[in-house]
Amino acid sequence: MVDRVKGKLAIVTGAAQGLGAAHSMLLAQEGARVLCTDINGDGAAETAAGINDALGAGTAYSIQHDVTDPAAWEAAVDSARDNLGGLNVLVNNAGIGVAGNIETCDFADWQRCFSVNVDSIFHGCQKALPLMREHAPGSIVNISSIAGLIASDTMPAYNASKASVWMLSKSIALHCAKKNMQIRCNSVHPTFVDTPILDGTAKHSGLDKQVLLDKLARQIPLKFVGEPSDIANAVLYLASDESRFMTGAELKLDGGISAM
Ligand SMILES: NC(=O)c1ccc[n+]([C@@H]2O[C@H](COP(=O)([O-])OP(=O)(O)OC[C@H]3O[C@@H](n4cnc5c(N)ncnc54)[C@H](O)[C@@H]3O)[C@@H](O)[C@H]2O)c1
Repeated sequence: MVDRVKGKLAIVTGAAQGLGAAHSMLLAQEGARVLCTDINGDGAAETAAGINDALGAGTAYSIQHDVTDPAAWEAAVDSARDNLGGLNVLVNNAGIGVAGNIETCDFADWQRCFSVNVDSIFHGCQKALPLMREHAPGSIVNISSIAGLIASDTMPAYNASKASVWMLSKSIALHCAKKNMQIRCNSVHPTFVDTPILDGTAKHSGLDKQVLLDKLARQIPLKFVGEPSDIANAVLYLASDESRFMTGAELKLDGGISAM
């Protein structure tokens, strides 16, 4: 299929690598113009350059953007207005994991996890909605995790932050519906996907990356770890008008884990 999001104007956060880079490329391949943002400004610029090389200049732009900073969000929305000509898709993808169980997790790490994973969505939606309303219909896609629905003893901060993303998405969805904004908001809940985020997990657990991937695959009923495109395809669907009757919902891409 082509042009599933033709003419859409999108911000993707955390677009320097991993899932954010995959969402950005797929949205662009399907007809959107994309502002790639990341705290790693060079990485975001590389993603945008790769899109423009493949699809033509002016398809993608980039900006250095710390999603925890409300002023940086204002700059990102301004950039969408100036470079894309508006905004109607917001993919809140940037996120981090932090180490530690409830006894060992450092409070500063807990706060950092909430700041990047949750405050980002509060600021992003608050700053982006006025422009999105002007360019409706629109779609907000928040990347949570299966860890927002199923707990683990080893990741209280990540579990709690991603559960917040899940519920925050529903509240935003209901607000937008009540105000007749024609803006939908849904959350996406992947299980393990092979991106650089798992490099940190491998390092922390002292495992070789491939050994970690094999171990994780054994925990998944479908017996494989996801690829970024598995998640990007869901983001594409939610960003497109094909999902126009879907808001306040959670889309689980977990190889069957939550069915157990
Ligand atoms: N890969 C997985 O297994 C997996 C599973 C479930 C959910 N997720 C979620 O998917 C999203 C993307 O994960 P990924 O696997 O691509 O991770 P990743 O670590 O490869 O990429 C995350 C990106 O976010 C950026 N980032 C971090 N802090 C930021 C900040 N303050 N402001 C702006 N950008 C910032 C990083 O620079 C990086 O480019 C995250 O929200 C993550 O929690 C990932």
